[in-house]
Amino acid sequence: MKIIIANWKMNKTGDSAKEFFTEFASLNKNSNTVIICPPFTLLHLTKDKGFHLGAQNMHQAEKGAFTGEISATQLKDAGVKYVLIGHSERRIIFGETCETVNKKNLQCLLHELIPVVCIGETLEERESGQTNEVLTKQLSIAFNSFSSETITPIVAYEPVWAIGTGKVATLEQISETHQFIRDRLQFHFGNAEKGGSGDRISVLYGGSVTDQNAQEIMSIPNVDGVLVGGASLDAKKFATIVNTQPQI
Ligand code: 13P
Repeated sequence: MKIIIANWKMNKTGDSAKEFFTEFASLNKNSNTVIICPPFTLLHLTKDKGFHLGAQNMHQAEKGAFTGEISATQLKDAGVKYVLIGHSERRIIFGETCETVNKKNLQCLLHELIPVVCIGETLEERESGQTNEVLTKQLSIAFNSFSSETITPIVAYEPVWAIGTGKVATLEQISETHQFIRDRLQFHFGNAEKGGSGDRISVLYGGSVTDQNAQEIMSIPNVDGVLVGGASLDAKKFATIVNTQPQI
């Protein structure tokens, strides 16, 4: 069973979301776990449509004077179970740091929300051979003091250069990087032999995933699912991704 997440980003209104749900329902064979992360205004419409409900962001504070932000309690109240944390668009456009990501993860833990922690290197970092170093830093700070006893987080590897560009990482790059992330998670959380959760944490790939490439990507060992942006806005394309039967 794979995990498939739709990140609608700042797209869709009530009408286009309803059209999506109707068309998707007629195509979905529902063999995988599907999480939809709509904009906040569409959470109520997405609820009870047969998906797990996710949010695209969350503030790290409990409540208070944070105009325009949303808290863990408010998301839970709206029926949310998963939250994207540290998406590269949040990091790059809105200046979120690894330390903020850590605070948000700890806040998720406190409220039993499952964080989908997004990590990934820029093109410059990949080309200068810094990918592993960048991912190690992002992971170790993100999960500082995070105990995975009550909540098992999800990690999404999204190379920044592959997001919205149509430029997918090669199968080799994905395979190699996911293996590296798995090793780091085992190092951080311990492996099954040590009673740790490092093997249980799902690692998803994101970045220009489409109905055309989803099957080969999800057939790579250590790829536990996909995080989909653009292609998740189209019910037909997204249903094809959700109905994919990976070769492993
Ligand atoms: P695209 O699928 O549009 O490349 O976006 C990926 C992404 O950012 C999902 O979070």
